[in-house]
Amino acid sequence: MIISSTADFREAARRCLPPFLFHYADGGAYAEQTLRRNVSDLADLALRQRVLKNVADISLSTNLLGQEMAMPVAIAPVGLAGMYARRGEVQAARAAENAGIAFTLSTVSVCPIEEVQNAVKKPIWFQLYVLKDRGFMRNVLERAWAVGITTLIFTVDMPVPGARYRDLHSGMSGSTGPVRRMLQAMLHPNWALDVGITGRPHDLGNISAYRGKPTKLKDYIAWLGTNFDPTITWRDLQWLRDFWKGKIVIKGILDPEDAREAVKFGANGIIVSNHGGRQLDGVLSSARALPRIVDTVKGELAIFADGGVRSGLDVVRMLALGAEAVLLGRAYVYALAHGGEAGVTKLLELIAKEIRVAMALTGITKISSIGPEILDQS
Ligand code: FNR
Repeated sequence: MIISSTADFREAARRCLPPFLFHYADGGAYAEQTLRRNVSDLADLALRQRVLKNVADISLSTNLLGQEMAMPVAIAPVGLAGMYARRGEVQAARAAENAGIAFTLSTVSVCPIEEVQNAVKKPIWFQLYVLKDRGFMRNVLERAWAVGITTLIFTVDMPVPGARYRDLHSGMSGSTGPVRRMLQAMLHPNWALDVGITGRPHDLGNISAYRGKPTKLKDYIAWLGTNFDPTITWRDLQWLRDFWKGKIVIKGILDPEDAREAVKFGANGIIVSNHGGRQLDGVLSSARALPRIVDTVKGELAIFADGGVRSGLDVVRMLALGAEAVLLGRAYVYALAHGGEAGVTKLLELIAKEIRVAMALTGITKISSIGPEILDQS
């Protein structure tokens, strides 16, 4: 199959994955309105075409949280990424490192922190959820620090999991799920061999290491439901600020008042995000929420954003709205499913090329020059 865009990666992923996995990544909460608006609100932003600006010398490099990056893009944390390709988190982390960008490992990854960090040279970023078991939180933070990780992405938009109706239809959840997943795997022999058999063990690597026993995929949904902590408040988090000596980026901010709280908390950055439309359907798209947050806290911490980014043009649009960098969620999952490390490498090359063209045709040569001026506000 010819791959020339994220849409092609998505179609390739749809063909090669058992449906329960494709829909788990592709879907969102409830009627998926926020998921769709994340994509369409961003794509609807018109760029200003500018000409005769000498754009021969374009640089994509940028500094994020004190680290030099080849472009203003990072890989978002995605749970179970290791089910989309053999030891998928390792493959994606390698591709990210080769592309000169950061890879974020989810709390609920298949591969444990140590396996992923040992596969690359530079420190990855680690994402943590607010969990009831503070012992687990401390344990995983200590392990992350021990392997050299200094950037913590702390996700706060999941005090309860959003309802994802597609999962029930696809066999990801529900009482007949195990049988259906088995049947689907048998109908996708390439995936079954590459991931189902050679990609073992299939457990939540970070959690199993703490519990001292495997936390299997079938326990995943139940584990999510019972372990997220709905009681948490900003005040309860102060121990985290004291405990973690590295950078903290709060992920899941969609409201200017919460952005202000993040500044008070002492966060180094925020990620404007609605979890890819997987939590509360009906909330603002990231693209619509971002400008007011930027107006409120710009200059006080780093502002990143994710949600709906499917191309380099979308990266440029999100930067024009005020983000310093964007994270790629589904786009990278589709690429990983299609081609493992090589697939993610190809996606990142594509995104870089598209950013370059968008900059050239809006008359910009440096990432720091991208601002609202390149959007047509008429
Ligand atoms: C996610 N996301 C996510 N976020 C997080 O903080 N921890 C996690 O474990 C996960 N897991 C996860 C699984 C899957 C399959 C998806 C698609 C997403 C949210 C993710 O980090 C990011 O916010 C969104 O994916 C961004 O939206 P796009 O780029 O997918 O539109």
